[in-house]
Amino acid sequence: MANIFSGIKPSGDLTLGNYIGAITNFVKLQDEHNCYFCVVDLHAITVPQDRADLKKRTKDIAALYLACGIDPKKATVFIQSEVPAHTQLGWLLECNTYIGELNRMTQFKDKAQKNGTDGLTSGLYTYPVLMAADILLYDSNLVPVGDDQKQHVEIARDIAVRFNNKYGETFILPETYAHKVGARIMDLQDPTKKMSKSDNDKGCILLLDDPKIIHKKIMSAITDSESIVKFDKENKPGISNLLTIYSKITNLTIEELEGKFVNANYGEFKKALADELVTFITPIQNRFNEIRNSKELDDILDEGAMIANQYANRKVQKVMKKIGLIRK
Ligand code: AMP
Ligand code: TRP
Repeated sequence: MANIFSGIKPSGDLTLGNYIGAITNFVKLQDEHNCYFCVVDLHAITVPQDRADLKKRTKDIAALYLACGIDPKKATVFIQSEVPAHTQLGWLLECNTYIGELNRMTQFKDKAQKNGTDGLTSGLYTYPVLMAADILLYDSNLVPVGDDQKQHVEIARDIAVRFNNKYGETFILPETYAHKVGARIMDLQDPTKKMSKSDNDKGCILLLDDPKIIHKKIMSAITDSESIVKFDKENKPGISNLLTIYSKITNLTIEELEGKFVNANYGEFKKALADELVTFITPIQNRFNEIRNSKELDDILDEGAMIANQYANRKVQKVMKKIGLIRK
């Protein structure tokens, strides 16, 4: 039985990309492993957030975790800022991370290249270290994430190796757990770009989108002019992305889908996908509406914070002792 940690930040509404890339694996892993699934609100504030939106989204994501099938009897579900050990360990690890390492993080580099660094916070720069703390705090063996987070799991591993060499065995070395297909769901309007909640427009399906909107977004997805439903990432990125989505929500293989739609045009294929998506998302939305404002959700998050605090506090104490931050 392995320890598992993962998180999603409440900087926007949950997308189909989050679901397929990350949450499907959360649900899969919870049956066999010791899982911690967190709403990483402290990561969201690396960029400006509206207070009311942040508060709302944090609980929305927690409710969506449950609505998507995370079972609080099997996994610990909690809010990051309710477990202070994350920021404590974050600092201890920052003092064991090199600036050069952070400079190599592509996510930050891309942002800095686009707009310069003047408007960026130092929190955004050091956020991979807080993420390393999230992971290492729970002795996580596996970290289920989408493609874009692989580099951040690698730096967590590098920090753990360095710390262990310097202070003795302290941290488990974590590994990424990602899908072979589906680790990067692309934008429907620009299939060369990751589907992302920050570009909340026609290219991104939200888990709480109205069924009519879902239909519209799928029907207007960018495809090629060939009108053959076939997986070919290089030459047909739009159709390949839609096939990936279709496959992930129905459990039909790509080959099965190519066979099913061999005589169909793109309009027919898209309509079938939109119908499947609505069938798949409607029960999630219904469950979300049931639980979002319930006492049940608060009870689950209270209990989750208690369990996470117990584990995390013990770990931070061990780490402080190794460093020499100890009076007696
Ligand atoms: P974030 O919303 O950035 O906090 O991401 C939460 C999780 O969802 C991470 O594991 C991401 O890698 C994953 N994720 C986000 N967008 C996508 C996407 N378009 N395709 C696959 N996985 C994604
Ligand atoms: N940085 C991740 C993202 O942007 C979210 C995250 C924070 C995370 N801490 C984590 C993911 C720990 C996995 C494990 O998507």
